[in-house]
Amino acid sequence: MRPRIDLTDSLEKIPVQIFPSPKEGSVYVANIIAKLIFEKNAKGEKCVIGLATGSTPKSLYAELVHMHKNEGLSFKNVITFNLDQYYPMEADALNSYHYFMRKYLFEQTDIDPDNYFLPDGMLPKDQLKEHCLEYEKRIEDAGGLDLQILGIGNNGHIGFNEPGSASYSKTRLITLDNSTRLANSQEFGNVSQVPRMAITMGISTIMKSKEIILMAWGQTKAPVIKKSVEGLATEEVPASLLQNHENCTFVLDEAAASELTRFKSPWLTGECDWTPKIIKNAVVSLALKLNKPVLNLTDIDYNDFGLSDLLVEKGDAYEINLEVYYMLRDSITGWPGGKPDSSIPNHPERSKPFPKKVLLFSPHPDDDIISMGGTFMRLHDQGHEVHVGYQTSGNIAVTDEFVTRFIDFAVGFENIFGIDDTTSKKILDNASAFLNTKRSSEKDTPEIRNIKGLIRRCEARATCKYVGLKDHQIHFMNLPFYETGTIEKKPMGEEDIELTVNLIQKIKPDQIFCAGDLADPHGTHKVCLDIVLEALRRIKAAGNNWIDDCWIWLYKGAWEEWDISEIEMAVPMSPDQVRKKRYGIFIHQSQKDSVPFQGGDNREFWQRAEERNANTALLYGKLGLTQYAAMEAFVRMKL
Ligand code: F6R
Repeated sequence: MRPRIDLTDSLEKIPVQIFPSPKEGSVYVANIIAKLIFEKNAKGEKCVIGLATGSTPKSLYAELVHMHKNEGLSFKNVITFNLDQYYPMEADALNSYHYFMRKYLFEQTDIDPDNYFLPDGMLPKDQLKEHCLEYEKRIEDAGGLDLQILGIGNNGHIGFNEPGSASYSKTRLITLDNSTRLANSQEFGNVSQVPRMAITMGISTIMKSKEIILMAWGQTKAPVIKKSVEGLATEEVPASLLQNHENCTFVLDEAAASELTRFKSPWLTGECDWTPKIIKNAVVSLALKLNKPVLNLTDIDYNDFGLSDLLVEKGDAYEINLEVYYMLRDSITGWPGGKPDSSIPNHPERSKPFPKKVLLFSPHPDDDIISMGGTFMRLHDQGHEVHVGYQTSGNIAVTDEFVTRFIDFAVGFENIFGIDDTTSKKILDNASAFLNTKRSSEKDTPEIRNIKGLIRRCEARATCKYVGLKDHQIHFMNLPFYETGTIEKKPMGEEDIELTVNLIQKIKPDQIFCAGDLADPHGTHKVCLDIVLEALRRIKAAGNNWIDDCWIWLYKGAWEEWDISEIEMAVPMSPDQVRKKRYGIFIHQSQKDSVPFQGGDNREFWQRAEERNANTALLYGKLGLTQYAAMEAFVRMKL
């Protein structure tokens, strides 16, 4: 028997609030907290709040600090208990949650330092049991938690309650999952520096809170949010246990909510407006689920899989199959800049003008070749004038060993040719002295950052030369928002937008390619896209009508791939082109093997790209289209 979709499994079992961005979600949660503090204050009571750390609540704390400084919100009657702390770790260490909380919240508000509590990461092991019991008792003595704020790990952990944590668990020492250590390695620079253990409140400690708000932002959290909200309540996904709490809400941004059935497969959750996009999505999901080419789907298939409404609307399976098959077929092209001198109806790109001026924005110095190397080469080979705008220097992703090797080379080079090497020797000595005593996550000196940026610039230039570009087609933008020397970047600023406006105005492209893979763990891709979009809006607002004829294509690849049904342009690659792209990626030697701040995926970038490109081709093949060796995929964005 074929499996039927269990409709009861597609509904949300926890109330969900969705906001366009983390900022709006954070304002919503900050208002709830402010109201609670205010009400408790009016009754002369203390307000007891459980707090989380990590990247998620930073925007919430920024909002609370703003309310304190500008709107008179006081924390005098607030008592807080944090969920967790790494073990062992000193309170003052840069990655300690004590340090985090002081920096982002406590020291910027009027909370009484005697009123905030975190687990102590420095106690000897034999005193930990006692300490954990005391922590629980302190919460109870304070009257219990009125509200618990949570983030969620990609594996579903809440606090550091890793999968398998019992629902009756209390505050305790826990061994961190490898996946958690990998995810958190971003703050430490390298996974080996992430502690192996942590002290965390238990699931039962969290569940005793009168109210719980779990926040999640970004695409990477979307799959685990779906599991937690729609799946079975199981200790394997600790956040799903929150289904058993009576007053728990998930506050999400649109990206974190994107895998929920109501968005992903809206036909399963009620009436749905059958736009061509939704029809394509539904039929492609059905064909892949049944492992059948689109043209082989039958009325029975549609009925069995919750698509009877679509059948009623369209008449019969054959018509729907054809409609979707043509959409898929028309998205495939070997002419990403349009095919000159031909008129192909429904081709993804216009054939005129030819040749086109193309501006390819690459957030880091290697995203161009990793994510769209095959298309990049085709565009150039087919006669278009391709420019690349390298948006950031990418300097934090070069290892210390690599930079020392290069300065050593500079000294040796001068030596060989009898050039005075005093300055470069001094730079080498300074760099070696600094790097020898550099602490984990310490910022590099401006000198070292500069050299790291230079290394990446040389690699990018070499890749452009490999593709065939001339110097005037290569633009290093060094956007200032990136230049913090740490994993945390500044928000986009005026200067970033101005630099981008200037480059676009100078080239006046017919086509722009931008990174749309917003799951990049450091958020750089998202800021880079926002900057381009803001620049385009300004150019348009200034009355430059030519911009209406500029088409914007988004690529993914380094961190994730488009869903097969979203793809509007799929550019095939032969085995030879795959190899050529691989060699182009190899030019980025500083990014080979292991790089700092790599995120949770251990594979090298060429491996990720190849697997994603091969998979897209495979899926097209499975759906009944011609199967190529690999395909790069794009979605068009309209301003
Ligand atoms: C932090 C904590 C963790 C994080 C989770 C998500 O105190 O207990 O459960 O909430 O790992 O981390 P971010 O927010 O960095 O994605």
